[in-house]
Amino acid sequence: MSIDLSSLVPYFSDLRAGRPLAVLTGAGVSAESGLPTFRGAGGLWEGQRAEDLATPGAFARDPVRVWRFYEWRREKVRAARPNDAHLALARLEGVLPRMTLITQNVDGLHQAAGSRRPIELHGNILRDRCSGCGTVTAAAPTPFATLPPRCSRCSELLRPDVVWFGEVLPAASWHEAETAAEGSAVFLVAGTSSVVAPASTLGLLAARSGAHLFEINPEATPIAPLAEGVFRTSASEVLSAIATALGAR
Ligand code: OAD
Repeated sequence: MSIDLSSLVPYFSDLRAGRPLAVLTGAGVSAESGLPTFRGAGGLWEGQRAEDLATPGAFARDPVRVWRFYEWRREKVRAARPNDAHLALARLEGVLPRMTLITQNVDGLHQAAGSRRPIELHGNILRDRCSGCGTVTAAAPTPFATLPPRCSRCSELLRPDVVWFGEVLPAASWHEAETAAEGSAVFLVAGTSSVVAPASTLGLLAARSGAHLFEINPEATPIAPLAEGVFRTSASEVLSAIATALGAR
C-alpha cells in the first residue's frame, strides 16, 4: 500500500536542512515485533490491573508476583527483533542533522535497530536496579523458583529498572524530552495511546511551541484533534515511507 505523505512533504526540505524533528514512540511501534501493547484487546492491562503489577505498592506487597510478570515480559523482549518502524527511525537519523527519538518503550528495540541515543522515558526492562543501594546492572535471567532476586552488594531486593505508576520519570531524560519537544519543527507521535502522563503531554507542548504535529496510529487518540495530519495505519508502513521519501537507506 502506498502512503499519502502529502501533509508532511512540505516540511521535508526544512528537516533535511537541519530543522529539528522529534519523534515520540509507544508500545504500538513494537507491536509488529510481537510485543503486546498495554491497552485494548490483547493488551497487558486487559484482565490484569496495572496497580497490581506496575506500582511501588504492588512491589512492596508481592514482589514475587511483580517479578513473575517482568520475567515473562523479559523473555518476550529477548526473543523480539526490531521491525520496519524501528529500522526506519534509525535510517532517518542517518539523513536528518537534528533528530531526537523519545520512547516510552522499555524493550531496547530502538537501540537494537541502530538508533544511537533514544531517550528512554520509562527506563529499560533489561536492566535491574537495587531498591536499596540503587546499583543498576544488566538483567540476568532469574529462575522463577529463586524470585525475587537480591542485590549482590547490599542484599536488598532488586527491581526492574523501569518507571512504575506513581513514580517520577528520570529527571534528565524528562528534561531532554521537554526541550526536544519545545524546540522541534515537526513532532511525530507514533504508536501510543497518548493517555499516560507526562509523556502524553509532549505532543501538546510541541504543538503549543509551534511544531507541526502528526499522529501515526491505526486508532484516533486524545492528541489527534491537535494534529495537523494523521496517518491511520501501522507505524512500520508510515515510518518506512517517510524514511524512503527522505532518501534514507
Ligand atoms: P498503549 O498500549 O496504551 O497504546 C498503544 C497504541 O499503539 C494504541 O493507541 C494502538 O492503537 C497503537 N498501535 C497498535 N498497533 C500499532 C501499529 N502497528 N502501529 C502504530 N500504532 C499501533 O501503549 P503506550 O501508549 O505506549 O507505562 O502506553 C504508555 C504507557 O502505559 C507505557 O509506557 C506503560 C503503560 O502502562 C508504564 O508501565 C509506566
